[in-house]
Amino acid sequence: MTKKTKNDGGLFGTAEEMSALAQQIRRHDELYHQNDAPEISDAEYDALRARYRRLRELFPDAIPDNDPEKKVGAAPAAGFGKITHSAPMLSLNNAFSSDDIVDFTSRIRRFLQLSDDTALAFMAEPKIDGLSAALRYEKGVLIQAATRGDGTTGENITTNAKTIKNIPHKLKAPFPDVVEIRGEIYLNRSDFMDLNALRTKAGEQLFANPRNAAAGSVRQLDPRVTASRPLKFFAYALGEISGTESQTQHELRDQLKQWGFDLNEPARMCFGPDELLAYYQNMEEQRHALPFDIDGVVYKLDRQDWQERLGFASRAPRWAIAHKFAAEQAETRLNKIIIQVGRTGALTPVAELEPITVGGVVVSRATLHNEDEITRKDIREGDIVLIQRAGDVIPQIVSSKHIGNTKAFKFPDRCPECKSLALRDEGMAVRRCTGGIICPAQAVERLCHFVSRNAFNIEGFGEQRVRELWQDKLITSPADIFNLHKHKDEIAKREGWGDLSTSKLLTAIEARRTIPLDRFIYSLGIRQIGEATAKLLAKRYGDLNNWRKSMLSARDAESDAWRELTDIDQIGPLVAGDLVSFFSEKHNLDALDALARELNIEKYVATTTGDSPLTGKTIVFTGSLTSMSRAEAKARAESMGATVSGSVSKKTDYVVEGEESGSKAAKARELGVTILSEAEWVKIST
Ligand code: IVH
Repeated sequence: MTKKTKNDGGLFGTAEEMSALAQQIRRHDELYHQNDAPEISDAEYDALRARYRRLRELFPDAIPDNDPEKKVGAAPAAGFGKITHSAPMLSLNNAFSSDDIVDFTSRIRRFLQLSDDTALAFMAEPKIDGLSAALRYEKGVLIQAATRGDGTTGENITTNAKTIKNIPHKLKAPFPDVVEIRGEIYLNRSDFMDLNALRTKAGEQLFANPRNAAAGSVRQLDPRVTASRPLKFFAYALGEISGTESQTQHELRDQLKQWGFDLNEPARMCFGPDELLAYYQNMEEQRHALPFDIDGVVYKLDRQDWQERLGFASRAPRWAIAHKFAAEQAETRLNKIIIQVGRTGALTPVAELEPITVGGVVVSRATLHNEDEITRKDIREGDIVLIQRAGDVIPQIVSSKHIGNTKAFKFPDRCPECKSLALRDEGMAVRRCTGGIICPAQAVERLCHFVSRNAFNIEGFGEQRVRELWQDKLITSPADIFNLHKHKDEIAKREGWGDLSTSKLLTAIEARRTIPLDRFIYSLGIRQIGEATAKLLAKRYGDLNNWRKSMLSARDAESDAWRELTDIDQIGPLVAGDLVSFFSEKHNLDALDALARELNIEKYVATTTGDSPLTGKTIVFTGSLTSMSRAEAKARAESMGATVSGSVSKKTDYVVEGEESGSKAAKARELGVTILSEAEWVKIST
């Protein structure tokens, strides 16, 4: 029992009381910062702190060893440090059908120009949905671990990774000087269930699936929390390595095992699509008997030299593919159809379901896509619906049965948020609210997108907070976010905020004043401009001013700027049209310029090594090449930092002329662009 002196008005206390208070504060700090699960309100926390501080002033001699005031500077609120991957960490393309697999293998044959009788060997492995990580070993010792992050930069999770039992701290010899092992951190199904059972007891929010649970456990600021979770790691690939690499995927597996890693089993060598499909079927049958959840299998071309020639396309290797399992299904009741309004004003119907477990995950909502989908399937409130989910995909409704007396659903023609007219453009499936920026849903959704993980990534700025600040007109446009510090006191006074969470948020905002151009473009939430397209734009235009200027000029469909834009591989007239519409609205330009004044927007930096003779060059291929397919030539040029374009202009650096070339070579001669023969091209690119 703590001995306490009776105090008058709470001013006096003993050393014991201070020590007990200190302990409480530390516990709440931990709950707040490390578990993201506070037990008391910010106001209560502030009161605890205030009382402790007063006692501390009055009894400086009684300050306990675990004094929380000393900890201020070291508060780990800033999260994890960043690590730039020495080679980008990529994702995998997905296949869903046997045809996709046949296409995958024949695409490889075509790319490599292999004859039909050349054997194609693949390593087939289970695909565990966890969290990918890169472990760096120098002289055999684990010195760094990083998450995948956006593929280019990840988070430094070294301390936490070291708590994972089957991650070796030292490699078994012999090993190269430097080697980076890549693989997946995951939880076994039963450990995931146990973890959620504990959280139910503690009244904590449940993890949606083993993958989220693994990610949440790794992203703990207190490594003791991570250590308490039975995480596991399996290795599946290499990043950087000094010295020689194995020649094949199966040798790589042997090597990883020899260094001391667990591998994803059961894996098997397969020759051609038939054997791949047999492996797939076999795994689908056994999946429930495995200790971990798998959402499909992965096929990797065995030969390393072929992998290198095939290379990567935007975010995934051409030599590997994930073959996903069919979705899991279940029946439940559709209680209500609600209409959500997105940041571009699209009205999306969502089904509210009687909660049900599908493939180990509780589902209570499903997407209904659009108005036509509801009509086509005649989905009504009160129906019994068959739902399915595949991996991380939002659950969908496959079919529905009416029961009792139900009415066909009538889709609203007014926006449920701002009551403006909601219209459908001719030939379009979506109905859109015409309210624009007066529509709260669009404004809030846009702001939420702006602060979201892959955009500005402002930690702790969830929808609820955005909505509150928007309602009070503290943020009406994105630039206002960077002026919130001017309203600090006003914000801290709000119910449920308090000093601590307000300064946590303001610090998170300040940390994002510098942003790379591609992320900035993505954050604007322009229709159809996702992360990949934003990167392409950043790469082509380099800096904000140049991009802005070019987009304004591109409003004229006859301009060079429009041609340059639509010339970018993967940007067609529809996407270009959406960009131009964005730049045609004054309020968008105003919002953009206001932001630019608050921010330091970094120029695009190419991720490829800068010393290739093709870095930054624009190349056009014309005619047919004999030594490699067009796809391989294009891929090589891109991997060396060049941009491949479809038409010749003043900006073209090289035209590679194959056999039977036509007008492009003529135009290049006319403009004085350097022309390379196939032989010269092969010399430069190998
Ligand atoms: S190989 C360049 N192999 O799935 C090749 N990935 O959906 C990179 N994953 O980002 C990946 N099991 O996090 C590979 N056997 C396996 C895998 C696997 C799970 C994850 C990985 C990847 C994601 C793509």
